[in-house]
Amino acid sequence: MCGIVAYVGSKDAAPILLEGLQRLEYRGYDSAGLAIVNKTLRTRKVKGRVADLAAAVPARFKGGVGIGHTRWATHGVPSDVNAHPHVDGAERVAVVHNGIIENADELRAKLTVDGATFTSETDSEVLAHLIARTVKDTDSLEEAVRTALKRVVGTYGIAVLDAERPGEVVVARNGSPIVLGIGEKEMFAASDVAALVRYTRQVVHLEDGELATIKADGFHTFTMDATETAKEPLTVDWDAGHYDTGGYEHYLLKEISEQPETVARTLRGRVDDRFHIAHLGGLNLTPHETRAFRRVKIIGCGSAYYSGQIGAQLVEELARIPADAEPASEFRYRNPVVEHDTLYVAISQSGETYDTLAAVQELKRKGGRVLGIVNTVGSAIARECDGGIYLHAGPEVSVASTKAFTSTAVAFALLALHFGRVHDLSPADGRRICEGLRRLPAQIEEILAKDDEIAGLARKYADHAGMMFIGRVRGYPVAREGAQKLKEISYVHAEAYPASELKHGPLALIGPDMPTVAIVPDDELLDKNLTTLGEIRARGGRVLMVGHRAADPRLADDCVVVPKNETELDPILLTIPLQLLAYHAAVALDRDVDKPRNLAKSVTVE
Ligand code: G6P
Repeated sequence: MCGIVAYVGSKDAAPILLEGLQRLEYRGYDSAGLAIVNKTLRTRKVKGRVADLAAAVPARFKGGVGIGHTRWATHGVPSDVNAHPHVDGAERVAVVHNGIIENADELRAKLTVDGATFTSETDSEVLAHLIARTVKDTDSLEEAVRTALKRVVGTYGIAVLDAERPGEVVVARNGSPIVLGIGEKEMFAASDVAALVRYTRQVVHLEDGELATIKADGFHTFTMDATETAKEPLTVDWDAGHYDTGGYEHYLLKEISEQPETVARTLRGRVDDRFHIAHLGGLNLTPHETRAFRRVKIIGCGSAYYSGQIGAQLVEELARIPADAEPASEFRYRNPVVEHDTLYVAISQSGETYDTLAAVQELKRKGGRVLGIVNTVGSAIARECDGGIYLHAGPEVSVASTKAFTSTAVAFALLALHFGRVHDLSPADGRRICEGLRRLPAQIEEILAKDDEIAGLARKYADHAGMMFIGRVRGYPVAREGAQKLKEISYVHAEAYPASELKHGPLALIGPDMPTVAIVPDDELLDKNLTTLGEIRARGGRVLMVGHRAADPRLADDCVVVPKNETELDPILLTIPLQLLAYHAAVALDRDVDKPRNLAKSVTVE
């Protein structure tokens, strides 16, 4: 989704901004632009890729202060004119904006009466006009930005440039992230640390309602009423290398292939072989508080939600605490009943998803206790929660989530083990789970070694208009994630159903043109699942089975056999062939694997 980069220093801003924008491409966008100050304000913006913008920037686009943006259209079609930065009529102020200005129409009408002429259809352009009106009178960009933002209703991360003040950029945050990067006699700001790590790993995250002025020699932060705030810089663990494809053809394949290591990182230092428990230092819960929870409610969006369904299953099985998962985007709008003895768990790879953040804020407002299972350290959701577990999976760049999904499921296994051992999970069962967790990385390697076999199956099945994914109980969230992966990146229609529900409706779709991917673990439901396969085959349906043993050819056309772990942990491994299946189907269909159409990596708007 939209991205912001800003630079102030002695180097040329344009190449740094373009580099930063390239690092933000993974988030999804449709146009890009930048503005620099060199005596006057100079802007370039284009519909299309950052490479198109780079080609449109003249060689003599010099200046040591600038702002850049990648836009993901909300108000107005993707076009050169609607791309950011937006400038006022006098071309003094330039603004880049992430988020949505809800009272834009009203502000636009008032500004028009005052003589402003609008050139774009965006809500963001009002910011440039509003700030320009005040800056003329105050001679302080900070004050002009604060004054303008007081009139704004909505969400924003912004960076503002004033042609008359070429040594500074003012940034502000309300619901859309802004992070400052501290360099040597230079300062950066961006909406995502990905844009900064090539230049610095010292960062400062702004809070909602906070602003900052960055200059070459430093920064200061303040609130909307001009009160200075004190900030401690954080050191980012990730470096620029984490954002490269590392020799793989796509980020997605790189991230799928990293899973033995990323799962190991999620586990590192957290499995205790003496008491067969999990060490989760960030939970901020005493054993007494942990025992007091009678329910666990999990929220997240997209793949995060599906990993939460695996998490709910793990919590119920290992801790025998009722648990369920719900899309955060639904939860926040239904005036949820918040109970004091329920533990809420918010999941997010990016830590920025607006619906999840808003759901956490709603929970906090009602006094709910919220843990975050988050990948991005210091992100908005991580900071909003009372405690949590970081995944340590490293940056996930491809839009479709893979390694964050498996790491989240592993984090839930640790959480469920922790709860279970505080309740009634026996030391023997605790040991069994600890040992199972330790086996995961090597077993993931075994599955990855089947890449060629799965690529062949993907080519065989990819040319169908639609596919059904089914699973029972533990297999159902796996089926949902498998269908999600396939539809996201290959655009093949994929539906996921509980295997038990097939005969209550979707069986009508089954026939030679609608193959089924069936998740069939070796668990207590094996016979039920095999019966379902028989029902599909009886209707002429083709079956690709993903399970723990070779399929009876009467029940399945094809089969991917994955190594068996402990039954509770099997869903983690069963997911991986489905990631590879979707990846190879997308490649076979020549899709833009890492940047699927219409989607964004971090959905920072409602
Ligand atoms: C977007 C992405 C999905 C992701 C979801 C939640 O929709 O396209 O891949 O699962 O957001 O993202 P989060 O960063 O909160 O895990």
